[in-house]
Amino acid sequence: MNILLLGSGGRENALAWKITQSNKCDKLFIAPGNAGTANVGTNVAIKADDFDAVKEFVLQNNIKMVVVGPEDPLVKGVYDYFKTTPELSSIPVIGPSKEGARLEGSKAFAKAFMMRHNIPTAAYKEFTAKEYDDAVEFLKTLKAPYVLKADGLAAGKGVLIIDNLKEAEQELKAMLDGMFGEASSTVVIEEFLSGIECSVFVLTDGDSYKILPVAKDYKRIGEGDTGLNTGGMGAVSPVSFADAEFMAKVEERIVIPTVEGLKKEGIEYKGFIFLGLINVEGEPMVIEYNVRMGDPETEAVMLRVKSDLVELFEGVAEGNLYNKVLEIDSRYAVTVMLVSGGYPGDYEKGKEITGLTDVTDSILFHAGTTLKDGKVVTSGGRVIAVSSYGNSKDEALAKSFENAQKIIFDKKYYRRDIGFDLK
Ligand code: AMP
Ligand code: GLY
Repeated sequence: MNILLLGSGGRENALAWKITQSNKCDKLFIAPGNAGTANVGTNVAIKADDFDAVKEFVLQNNIKMVVVGPEDPLVKGVYDYFKTTPELSSIPVIGPSKEGARLEGSKAFAKAFMMRHNIPTAAYKEFTAKEYDDAVEFLKTLKAPYVLKADGLAAGKGVLIIDNLKEAEQELKAMLDGMFGEASSTVVIEEFLSGIECSVFVLTDGDSYKILPVAKDYKRIGEGDTGLNTGGMGAVSPVSFADAEFMAKVEERIVIPTVEGLKKEGIEYKGFIFLGLINVEGEPMVIEYNVRMGDPETEAVMLRVKSDLVELFEGVAEGNLYNKVLEIDSRYAVTVMLVSGGYPGDYEKGKEITGLTDVTDSILFHAGTTLKDGKVVTSGGRVIAVSSYGNSKDEALAKSFENAQKIIFDKKYYRRDIGFDLK
């Protein structure tokens, strides 16, 4: 069948790489894609959230499945758009309904959902501008540091963690006054949880589910987890502390109640659920839900999925995922992200990238690249993910670090300590 994948980052390049390994996939199109996805499929110049253009393309190119990479089109309702458009309604979309996507699109919705289903998460309350005085009273009942979250999507920047109460009150006011626009017209204030984080990915058809390999990402720009937050500087899978005992708790206390909760509430969900978890003294708690795969976790996790991904997606679409087998590669998989100097602040684009063909023993997933006059050039902060297998974490990382050196572009930067905090 012909498949359309929406998105343009490293995650989409990794999904495209895996999808095209399936003999069920005839042609893969990526909208809009990047210079890396162009190596495995055909890029089409359509924005992932331009639903009318997507519709036209799907009908003209005999597309039989649409896979959604990023959250934006999901939160905007691409699933529902297909379902309610007669010519599209028989074409499955791998991703949740608009209502399901609120698990990521609204932190207040996600918290209330967790409360309703007894899913372990930090204690919280939500407030609007009118409730500022109550919000300050609530802040005073908490201990520092204070966690303030914009309710809506804020390009990954909507969470503030603040050490002192006075400053937290000021930032709270600024958020409610529109620091993140409409996204912070409601603010969730929650208890600070202390522990180490990991990302658990679930694929569900709304009834049964499969748990994909667990990963840990490295969000800070600087070595030793210092400096500003980024979209992600690397990832490792598996994660040593997420052992069988921990994962059994995750499944029982979080995965099952989440999938059952969605079903009970009549929320259609056929896609990925990304559990952002924190390990609080051996007990998993949910920091956040996302309704898509993680980036850069996907660039490691896809290496460990041995089964045919398209067959799993068919199980999702047809509601018989329970019948499918998810086989996982026991090796380690890691990814190291090469970024543009200056990122996550200002950086230059359009730098020529060379050395790509010198890479051996790693798999490259492009994140922010484009083709210009036949050359691959940088077009984003995160540029290329260098992913590798290994029989140990260190063996896999050594390959990625070695290949990271071979890829050349002006002001290239990467963290040389990915995985440093894990056994
Ligand atoms: P989120 O967008 O909800 O994932 O938050 C961004 C980051 O803030 C998370 O990855 C955590 O590192 C941190 N964070 C969020 N909520 C909490 C919390 N309740 N306690 C401690 N850290 C948190
Ligand atoms: N790596 C975290 C995310 O994709 O949101």
